[in-house]
Amino acid sequence: LTPKDLGGLRLLVSAGPTREYLDPVRFLSNPSSGRMGYAVAEAARDRGAEVVLVSGPTALPDPWGVEVVRVESALEMRQAILERYAWADAVVMAAAVADYRPAEVLKEKEPKVEAERLLRLVPNPDILKELGERKGQKVLVGFAMETGEGLERARGKLLRKNLDFIVLNWVNREGVGFASPENEVVLVFRDGRVEEVSRRPKRQVADRILDHVKALWAS
Ligand code: C5P
Repeated sequence: LTPKDLGGLRLLVSAGPTREYLDPVRFLSNPSSGRMGYAVAEAARDRGAEVVLVSGPTALPDPWGVEVVRVESALEMRQAILERYAWADAVVMAAAVADYRPAEVLKEKEPKVEAERLLRLVPNPDILKELGERKGQKVLVGFAMETGEGLERARGKLLRKNLDFIVLNWVNREGVGFASPENEVVLVFRDGRVEEVSRRPKRQVADRILDHVKALWAS
């Protein structure tokens, strides 16, 4: 039996990719499956937390006992998260938010529109950075998906976004990361401490993340 050690915690989790539409049928996105964020939401629920999951498009069913808010674009995700931020004690931002969106969304599918017009992009707001600017007593956790070694980049994101810790994980590593049932991560903390979590099911990675959320929430 799982101990209800997160009873009373109000946790907001984001998961999955975003879709940035060019026109009614085409969009820019990424291969995020949502599994890591859903694992965090389910583990927290089982440990007694009240959980809201803001999810981009995924093939995963809504977890029972969790309020699921489905969104598509980064702007929709931003709104859904900001609306629930005051409620939350902690936020785990596992979504793979698209950094850019098309400058204009065409109303019709126009096959002859020039590629330069179709693919003119503007940056999306950094949702997590906005949360960090209004951090207060909240526990904030981000993810950093890197291609190289990535520790210094992850540290930069941790400080720039004013997070408690960041979960460093990798694209292109055999058997882990995007769409895989397992993950291998490094938790990077503000005081410079790092904790390596060797390859294991995402649910177990989620529990490790939540152990730290719990310790920070209690402090
Ligand atoms: O800067 P980078 O995109 O690598 O940062 C990753 C972290 O920031 C993730 O936790 C992601 O969910 C979050 N993020 C965000 N809004 C964006 C881009 C990333 O909240 N526009």
